[in-house]
Amino acid sequence: MLKEGRVKVAVIGLGRIGLPTAAVFARAGAAVTGVDINPQVVETLQEGSCRFADEPGLQELLSDVVKRRKLVATLDLGIAVSSSQFIIICVPTPVDQTKTPDYSAVKKTSHAVGAALREGSIVIIESTVGPGTVENLIRPILEEESGLTAGQDFGLASCPERSDPGNILENLKSVPRVIGAINGQCGEAVAVLYEAVLGVSVIGVKDPKTANAVKLTENLFRDVNVALANEFALLFEKLGIDTYEVINACGTKYNFVPHYPGAGVGGPCLPSNSYYLIAEGLKTGNIPYLIRLAREINDRMPDHVVELVSEALNEVGKTVKGARIALLGVTYKPNVRDIQLSPVQKICERLEGMGARVVIYDPMLLDEEVFGHRVERCADDAVDSADCIVIGTAHPEFYQLQLRHLSRIVNGRAALVDGRNVLDPATVRDAGFAYRGVGRGTS
Ligand SMILES: NC(=O)c1ccc[n+]([C@@H]2O[C@H](COP(=O)([O-])OP(=O)(O)OC[C@H]3O[C@@H](n4cnc5c(N)ncnc54)[C@H](O)[C@@H]3O)[C@@H](O)[C@H]2O)c1
Repeated sequence: MLKEGRVKVAVIGLGRIGLPTAAVFARAGAAVTGVDINPQVVETLQEGSCRFADEPGLQELLSDVVKRRKLVATLDLGIAVSSSQFIIICVPTPVDQTKTPDYSAVKKTSHAVGAALREGSIVIIESTVGPGTVENLIRPILEEESGLTAGQDFGLASCPERSDPGNILENLKSVPRVIGAINGQCGEAVAVLYEAVLGVSVIGVKDPKTANAVKLTENLFRDVNVALANEFALLFEKLGIDTYEVINACGTKYNFVPHYPGAGVGGPCLPSNSYYLIAEGLKTGNIPYLIRLAREINDRMPDHVVELVSEALNEVGKTVKGARIALLGVTYKPNVRDIQLSPVQKICERLEGMGARVVIYDPMLLDEEVFGHRVERCADDAVDSADCIVIGTAHPEFYQLQLRHLSRIVNGRAALVDGRNVLDPATVRDAGFAYRGVGRGTS
């Protein structure tokens, strides 16, 4: 049925997750309608263009499936939903200024989907939501708007997205999917679809809330472990111990899972996912202390980098005030064109607030406007006459920095602060820089 184009799928929200998802469903043979509220997003897809240049293979795939009319794009959610058997929701679920989950896009989409839903269709939530949100928020809206009953007249399931930006097409065909549905029949139908389209194994769990708990647990496990590594880093720096040496040695033990410290945690998932679980915990009167504290520790790391900058500049007889600082790398992780919740923004703002002149270079964002700065075209342009270099993102290019050359173009004796453990401390010092690195004890 899939290969014959008789499976009709609507993908709602054509962003970082929805766009590649729509494309791979279309490649597998489904007749896919992509829906977005942003006319520019729809127009770009109708032209077969890809707005995520950092996703390998996506442009080629989109050109192909759009040309063959396997994937079409529209602003009209109603028509897309009423003509599809499967409706996949991939709209954003950020947290607001007060760190409260903002489910407004999910709610709006659920109302619109419910109003157009036909008997026998299955709604699949890929957006990240707190456990219970599908059952207690999305289901009632769908039922009220459609006049249908979930589990009886239509199916409802969670299949949280587990991909890694910058590698999504690869992940989609290799990372198993976790599916929690409203009943066994719906779970089976969704499992068959995902197995057929993605060729991955499917882990069926009891219900949507368990699937959402899996998604949050895997991300919070990482966030909390990074916070622990950051806590070790702050302590070991003062004790003159190299945290990397410690963690790498620990990694030789059978039950140790290495996580490393750094300049902070960013991106669309880790900085916000904790708050979905915290919000659900608070509803039950439970405060997830460790999860909350981990967020605080990770959020504080940019301030620590600024402290290291100040220390390193003092070592060469300079202060942050009046210093020219070259910020190398601003994306929230290597190899993506994405600055969502990047901790480097805070580093930049703090340094400027203290009177520094910041210059930015990032190979993923050449010549673009970022944090109020035009990104330089090469590292040399940023480093020229700088008093301090700060590594904010571990882009591959930074592992190859020609330190001796850079030491000749900086302003006299300069400092270098490595927020991502990209450079060997001894090599940096040998090149003449005053060195500081997150987690690298100096005494
Ligand atoms: N980006 C990631 O790394 C990642 C990984 C796993 C899970 N997720 C989750 O996937 C979901 C989607 O994230 P994303 O990164 O793709 O977001 P995104 O911001 O890249 O894209 C979201 C798209 O949805 C559209 N949209 C917003 N409201 C809409 C509405 N009411 N109707 C139709 N379209 C609407 C936007 O215009 C945008 O094109 C979120 O819940 C996110 O937490 C993201």
